[in-house]
Amino acid sequence: MTSLPAKQLEQAAALRSRPWPAGFLWGSATAAAQIEGAGHEDGKEDSIWDAFARVPGAVVNGDTPEVAVDHYHRMPEDVALMKSLGLGSYRFSTSWARIKPGDRTVNQAGLDFYSRLVDELLGAGILPWLTLYHWDLPQAVEEQGGWASRDTAHRFRDYADTVYGALGDRVQHWTTFNEPFCSSLLSYAAGIHAPGRISREDALAAVHHQHLGHGLAAGALRELGAGNVGITLNLSNAIPADLTDEADLDAARRFDALQNRIYLEPLLLGRYPEDFLHDVAGLGFEQLVHDGDLAAISAPLDFLGVNYYHDDNVSGHPLPEGDPGFAAATDREVASPFVGSEHITFPTRGLPRTGMDWEINPDGLRHLLTRLGAEYPDLPPLYVTENGAAYDDEITAGGRIHDVERTQFVLDHVGSVADAIAEGADVRGYFLWSLLDNYEWAWGYGKRFGMVHVDYETLVRTVKDSGLVYSSLIRNALTGA
Ligand code: FCB
Repeated sequence: MTSLPAKQLEQAAALRSRPWPAGFLWGSATAAAQIEGAGHEDGKEDSIWDAFARVPGAVVNGDTPEVAVDHYHRMPEDVALMKSLGLGSYRFSTSWARIKPGDRTVNQAGLDFYSRLVDELLGAGILPWLTLYHWDLPQAVEEQGGWASRDTAHRFRDYADTVYGALGDRVQHWTTFNEPFCSSLLSYAAGIHAPGRISREDALAAVHHQHLGHGLAAGALRELGAGNVGITLNLSNAIPADLTDEADLDAARRFDALQNRIYLEPLLLGRYPEDFLHDVAGLGFEQLVHDGDLAAISAPLDFLGVNYYHDDNVSGHPLPEGDPGFAAATDREVASPFVGSEHITFPTRGLPRTGMDWEINPDGLRHLLTRLGAEYPDLPPLYVTENGAAYDDEITAGGRIHDVERTQFVLDHVGSVADAIAEGADVRGYFLWSLLDNYEWAWGYGKRFGMVHVDYETLVRTVKDSGLVYSSLIRNALTGA
């Protein structure tokens, strides 16, 4: 630890002494398709990501999740690593295509893997935090309509039942979906995530059917006895570029609906936002919503997971000449036409950026966490279920990874969580994305988010400086040192 920058060590020490609530969970997160590998082993069949990765040009470098970081075979070693880092909780997802290949019959070998993982975690004193859907629909279900089909919501409920039947005696925390914004709009309208469809109608159907899947699964899990059921959303502050400009205000309103309110309102208030319904009038959205759906969707949540990487400066005008804009904006521009023909652009604020080209604004996390409580009075407890940064890492001759920028990103964002708590936000945990470098979806293996480096030739794991600092921070914060 002596070679870590003194300023970062001081910042970590100061963070340790912030008043973290009793029982605050310090964890790290991964997702099945990004780490497991064993893409077609022990009965697992294609998920939409296996199929999407085979589409020429869909994934950078043609990278596939077939081997990923081989967590399927190295699970005990990875759990030992988590223990050595002092993690209190581990957020992982189960693969539907492993547990019910093709969504036909249950694959016992698939369930057994997760059962062993849960036992290993509990044996190491680490709380399992399970997500049922982190974007990897069985390809066979996609071929029968995917999330554009209402039937998929019912299939998802049955899959949730199966997983609970095998793990419900040991897993207490159940998350239905991870980031439905990405698995509906970016996957079915923007086409940049699997299954890569570009259809406004399909995307709108995916939005509602994933909500319905959440409601049905949450209801089933509760009936079976689950005590802690929630969902994870990736939320953003939609900041109008110019508060006096009508076009910017309207673009921010539309973007806020797409990124935040079409998830938050059905879940927390039992309705879709009026302005969104108006924007999509004529696309058949309201016909998708059957009697009783919103009641199922809005059954009280035990927690809300919030993923935060960046927030957004939104304009209703074309980008000014020479403004590179915000890279993630291109994804959104493709998705935005279904709320009108006007522009939604993201002019740069000139902030530093991560290796994903995402602008860094740690205070945006404080703002988001406090704003949620103000805007939704019945908000359940919050957990930051993902936050982290990709950078190009270099391993030194001595086998160290001095990822100063990632370390700074983590310290600043953890500080922002502490600030939110100090302002009254009910935040009960923080999960760093990610435990390991992994398959970053359409960006393949080129983007490294891990606090642990993975050599993709040898699959050797090496803790980065960010992991060492995070570990020291959470151990001492936990013990109150
Ligand atoms: C989130 C995803 C996660 C990972 C991070 C970088 O949107 O939930 O799987 O890809 O971004």
